[in-house]
Amino acid sequence: MQPTADPGATPVPLTAAQRAAIDVAIAACRDLPGALLPLLHKLQEQLGYVPPASIPPIAKALGLSQADVHGVITFYHDFRTTPPGRHVVKLCRAEACQAMGCQRLEQHVQDRLGITFGQTSADGAVTLEAVYCLGNCALSPALLVDGRLQGRVSKERLDRVLDTCVHDGKEAQR
Ligand code: FES
Repeated sequence: MQPTADPGATPVPLTAAQRAAIDVAIAACRDLPGALLPLLHKLQEQLGYVPPASIPPIAKALGLSQADVHGVITFYHDFRTTPPGRHVVKLCRAEACQAMGCQRLEQHVQDRLGITFGQTSADGAVTLEAVYCLGNCALSPALLVDGRLQGRVSKERLDRVLDTCVHDGKEAQR
């Protein structure tokens, strides 16, 4: 398992590329109504996560307190404050998927990767996240792999997904 962010730690300084991404997100969203959410989504789209050090410049640009920005980031499960693995697997844990046995998948994926929800596997291949309804209830249990929806997921299918995620990185390193 890769380490998770320590909320009390000093944020890692922003890189030049991260600063540029923040400036782009601010410029694109600052005049929108309720600018904070679209801005954070745009930033996460660009960087894969919302670096904690981005909070002060975002708060300043939107005229909010840093506590306001921090509160929104931590309230919504969608936002990450650490870099994700090479692949992001989001498993639905809502009612329809539970009725179709997603608990077995939950246990299986955690056992196989040696992590729990919200963590990234030690090899950096997979970040595992929980979601609560993907709008695919008729084909539950459902998951998202790097934004691609999959339905009627069995243990075997989940294994194939994980095999692909893990082996992608090994191929790339050769
Ligand atoms: S409950 Fe899982 S997709 Fe709706």
